[in-house]
Amino acid sequence: MESGNTYWHNRALLEWQVELGVTDAILDAPVDRYQLEAAKPAPKPAPAPAAPPPVPQPDTVDAVGIARATAAGAADLGALAAAMQAFEHCEIKQGARSFVFSDGNPAARVMIVGEAPGREEDRAGKPFVGRAGQLLDRMLAAIDLDRAASDPAHAVYITNVLPWRPPSNRTPDKDEIAMMLPFLERHIALADPDVIILMGNTPCQALLGRTGITRIRGQWAEVMARPALPMFHPAYLLRNPAAKREAWADLLALKAKLRGDT
Ligand code: URA
Repeated sequence: MESGNTYWHNRALLEWQVELGVTDAILDAPVDRYQLEAAKPAPKPAPAPAAPPPVPQPDTVDAVGIARATAAGAADLGALAAAMQAFEHCEIKQGARSFVFSDGNPAARVMIVGEAPGREEDRAGKPFVGRAGQLLDRMLAAIDLDRAASDPAHAVYITNVLPWRPPSNRTPDKDEIAMMLPFLERHIALADPDVIILMGNTPCQALLGRTGITRIRGQWAEVMARPALPMFHPAYLLRNPAAKREAWADLLALKAKLRGDT
């Protein structure tokens, strides 16, 4: 195209734009928009959809395994008490006021295993101090045993399957018993009594794997290579005084065992 023509052509375009309302030239230099388009960075890929929230899994902590390893590492009764007190996998602990480990003389020939602390024990931090505990003391006194005795031949050592009071004094369930069993077994191994008394169904469940105290009471069993006698729990005797006759027979059987008569 000739330059004169270009002038008139460009002027016509300009006038047409002014007619359309254009008032300002925006840029000084021309811009090649095709090149700009080509130089644009490639669009980013759309972000991957967010991962779905994790589905809650059941508690996979092996509480029994942890209890076993922890208990095995306790070299003496003090270390065992500290390890048990620090054990966080038994929910009953949350509702209890005290950790109740034991009472009496750890050197005693007789070790008594009860169920779990009740309200009075939770307050005092000691096992068998409520009404059932007072009856237990009287029963023991009848065969010349005393938890306060320093002579191992006349002393008793007392503990429970659970060291924490269950809510509303409910019976511990099988999972709770199984979880705390490694501690109880280590407790027995460290105290090393000659004879074990199982007071009621819960220690029978824990150490013999069976219940039915009405049938099994008075029958010597074996726990960790030593004689173990299931007896009625003193709380049961308070509710059923007629059963004291059988309890007396069991106490005499214990006395005979300690004398070496049986
Ligand atoms: N009953 C138990 O079995 N243990 C206690 O310590 C008190 C009551």
